[in-house]
Amino acid sequence: MNTTEVLDKIYWVGGIDWELRDFHGYSTEKGSTYNSFLALDDKVTLFDGVKATATDQLFGRMSEITDPSSLDYLVLNHAEMDHTGGVPEIVRRANPEKIFCSAPCADALVQHFGKQDWPVEIVHTGDTLDLGKRTVKFLETKMLHWPDSMFSYLVEDKMLISSDAFGQHYATSARFDDEVEPGELMWQAAKYYANILLPYSPLILKLLEQVKSMGLEIDMIAPDHGVVWRKNVQGILNAYSSWASQKGREKAIVVFDTMWHSTEKMAHAVGDGLITGGMETIVMDLHGWHRSDVVTELLDAKGLVLGSPTLNNGFLPRIADFLCYAKGLRPQGKIGAAFGSYGWGGESVKLLNAAMDDMKVKRVDDGLRVKYVPTSQDLEAARDLGIRVADAIRESLS
Ligand code: FEO
Repeated sequence: MNTTEVLDKIYWVGGIDWELRDFHGYSTEKGSTYNSFLALDDKVTLFDGVKATATDQLFGRMSEITDPSSLDYLVLNHAEMDHTGGVPEIVRRANPEKIFCSAPCADALVQHFGKQDWPVEIVHTGDTLDLGKRTVKFLETKMLHWPDSMFSYLVEDKMLISSDAFGQHYATSARFDDEVEPGELMWQAAKYYANILLPYSPLILKLLEQVKSMGLEIDMIAPDHGVVWRKNVQGILNAYSSWASQKGREKAIVVFDTMWHSTEKMAHAVGDGLITGGMETIVMDLHGWHRSDVVTELLDAKGLVLGSPTLNNGFLPRIADFLCYAKGLRPQGKIGAAFGSYGWGGESVKLLNAAMDDMKVKRVDDGLRVKYVPTSQDLEAARDLGIRVADAIRESLS
C-alpha cells in the first residue's frame, strides 16, 4: 500500500483522502492526507491517528511494516477528529500499552469518545519518552490550533512531528517536499496557514522563538497533513515567521461582488489605480473566487479594498459570507477602502466601512459610492482611490 520510510525505521503509514473538497468552509481542491508515523524501536510507537474513514489505509500500511498488535505506544499530538476519528479502532485492534498526550487532549478524548479505559498518560512540555534507540521530547503548543495541540520531537533523528503546523491539505502520491512542484506546495502551505492558523499568529511567533531557545535542531518537519519537509525546512520556518508577523507587502486585493456590473467596473478601475500605484494587484470577483482562496491571497497583501452594490439596505450575500469568514481569521495591519454602486439608499459602502473598522483595516477615506452606472469621471475617481490606497500602503511599509 505504498508505505514510505521517511527516516531509518520511521515509516509514513497514514491515509490519503483524494476526495476531500471542503474542510469546514476551506476549499480543499487537492484533497488531503492524514499522516501517521510509525517508529520501529524497542517500543513500537505510532505518532498520531487518522480520520475514521482512513483507518483501513492505516492498518493496511502498518501491516506491511509490522503486526499492528505489536504496537507499544500511541502518541496523540492533537484531538481533532481528522487525527483521532480512527483512534477507537486503533486501540481496539492494536491495543497499545500506553497512549501519550497532553492534559487537554486527554480531556478532549473523553469528550469525544466517552469515558474509556484507555491507558492514557499525560505529558507536558520538556517531558521525554525513551523508545529504545531514540528519545521523544514533547512540546505543548496550546491553541495552535486547539488547546490540546502538541509537537513530538525525535531527538536523535532531529525530526519534528508537528501535528497541524506546517501542514498542507494536499493529497499527492509524493511524501516529501522535494518531490512536488515547489510553487504549488508553498501555495498549499500558505492556504493552510491563512485558513487555519492565522488567528494564532502571535502565538506562532512566540513558539518559533521557543523552538530556537530550546536549541532544537530540525532536519525534518513531519506535519499531519500533506508532504514532509526534508529539503526546504528553513524555507517553511521562514515562511511561518513572515506570515505570523503579518507585516504584508506591496500587494493589494480588490474583493467585490456585483449586481449589474457597475461595481465590477469600479473594481477594475480601483485595480488599475493600484497597479498604477505600483502594487501587485489581484481583482477578485466573489462569483469565481472561493473565500478560502481570497484569504490566502490576503495573507501577504497589505491592501484590502472591498466593493459591493447595495441590496435591500445591505451588501450582497457573498460579501457577507467573505466578511464573516475573514473576520474570524483576524487578519491584522491591513490598509484599504470601500466602494460600490447603489440605486437609492446606498448603504453598502457605509456597512463595508463599518466592517473594515471592525477588522481594524485602516481606511484611506470613507470610500466611493456611485449611483446606478459609473460615468467616466466616476471611474477616474475609482482609479484615484486605488492610487491613494497604493500610496498609503507604500508609506506604511517604508
Ligand atoms: Fe488536522 Fe486540527 O486537525
